[in-house]
Amino acid sequence: MSKTGKLYRCTECGYTTSHWLGRCPNCSSWNTIEEVVVEKEPKRSQIKVASSKPLTLTEIRATSIERITTDYGETDRLLGGGVVPGSVLLIGGEPGIGKSTLMIQLSESFSKKGLKVLYNCAEESVYQVGLRASRLNIEGKNLMIISESSLDSAISLYEEMKPDIFIIDSIQAVRDESLEAQPGTVSQIKLCTSRIIDIAKRDNSVVFITGHVTKEGMLAGPKTLEHMVDGVFYFEGERDGMIRLLRSVKNRYGDTNEVAFMEMTSEGLKEINNPSLFFIREGLGTTPGATIGVVMEGTRPILVEVQALVTRSVYTMPKRVVQGIDFNRFSFIIAVLEKLIQLTLFNKDIFLNIPGGFNIKDPAIDLPVALAIISSTIEIPLSSEIFSFGEIGLTGEIRQVMWYEKRIETALRLGYSEGIAPLQRVTHSKVKGVRTLREVYELIKNARSGVRSI
Ligand SMILES: Nc1ncnc2c1ncn2[C@@H]1O[C@H](COP(=O)(O)OP(=O)(O)O)[C@@H](O)[C@H]1O
Ligand SMILES: [Mg+2]
Repeated sequence: MSKTGKLYRCTECGYTTSHWLGRCPNCSSWNTIEEVVVEKEPKRSQIKVASSKPLTLTEIRATSIERITTDYGETDRLLGGGVVPGSVLLIGGEPGIGKSTLMIQLSESFSKKGLKVLYNCAEESVYQVGLRASRLNIEGKNLMIISESSLDSAISLYEEMKPDIFIIDSIQAVRDESLEAQPGTVSQIKLCTSRIIDIAKRDNSVVFITGHVTKEGMLAGPKTLEHMVDGVFYFEGERDGMIRLLRSVKNRYGDTNEVAFMEMTSEGLKEINNPSLFFIREGLGTTPGATIGVVMEGTRPILVEVQALVTRSVYTMPKRVVQGIDFNRFSFIIAVLEKLIQLTLFNKDIFLNIPGGFNIKDPAIDLPVALAIISSTIEIPLSSEIFSFGEIGLTGEIRQVMWYEKRIETALRLGYSEGIAPLQRVTHSKVKGVRTLREVYELIKNARSGVRSI
């Protein structure tokens, strides 16, 4: 700290420095460094938590964690079976993605169970929330709504009501008046969250905090907040699309990297219980270029349709339009197909689409993408019975991916009967094991001469 006792902090990443800078050396944002008042640095409040007594593992195992279910199956699964009293959960996402919608729907679930809910919609007026509640058919018998940007006022209303569930929507819209900093700055977010956590732990109540994510994908004042709370869940999806994914990034009471699929409708968020059925359609196999891939989202296999359209280009620079997978990954698959199986693609326009607005990160999507491109290029439709998964390596080898059995089980259960997957020591009877992209190509080509039903 400088002699003057002043401290400056970046509102984007939390980086601190002893003097003011125009640009943050840590996250490179401009004009985000602000002076923070050091004497009023966040102090943990004075609430004394009863000291705990040591427990044996047997005692710990004998006490199960009490959970409150939300009655939304997917959300409960994501939470690890329901919310745990005394926990503070952060729901992050871009503006307009559905955070407030989820909050009002969960409020209704809790309220129907007879739990008292206090919802602080600091970003909107209570009337706006009222309108949304009417659209979503929310009855809200035990739901009280306030719109307080002052954390002190919100907390005093909390103290009067002593709700079981307390919702702060959003953390960037509330401020602790003892700090001069603006709402949404790191010091405000830190202090407000810390005070809210103390309350939750003291009263064993559940607190939901919503937070906006900046363009770069970080919550403003990100890391400090993530460390403090018990669970962090992020919304993903196209704002204009229908599908939303709620992903657990941190969960002290459940698994991380689990995903709940939802659909945004005029009646609010609806859970998608069997996402595979949402992403695939009947009647594949009549036109070349479409096939089914099996990818993992968290610990769950999902079937997705992959569509490719390869046409002769009239441009000097052929068009490449990709939706649903990373463009670099796509370019790499094209390069391998050209180099290793001499597929002529340099003069072709290629369009690749994974319908449903779903972004796939699992490398096992490589093989279905290659299959769809080959099928469209040589104009041989793939059988509608086929499913595939596998990563492609630089030398055209088909590499192993995790969850071999689980992927196959899911595909067979959904009625697909012929698999193409990386070769295993013990291959599944319904699956053709492949080692190289050339073998895959031969499989498709031979289908033309009727050697295999593919
Ligand atoms: N009348 C409507 N019909 C269908 N969807 C709507 C309607 N009004 C709002 N929405 C959806 O709700 C979203 C806003 O959700 P909201 O919960 O307010 O987001 P957040 O709190 O994350 O900013 C909109 O992007 C839109 O998809
Ligand atoms: Mg909102």
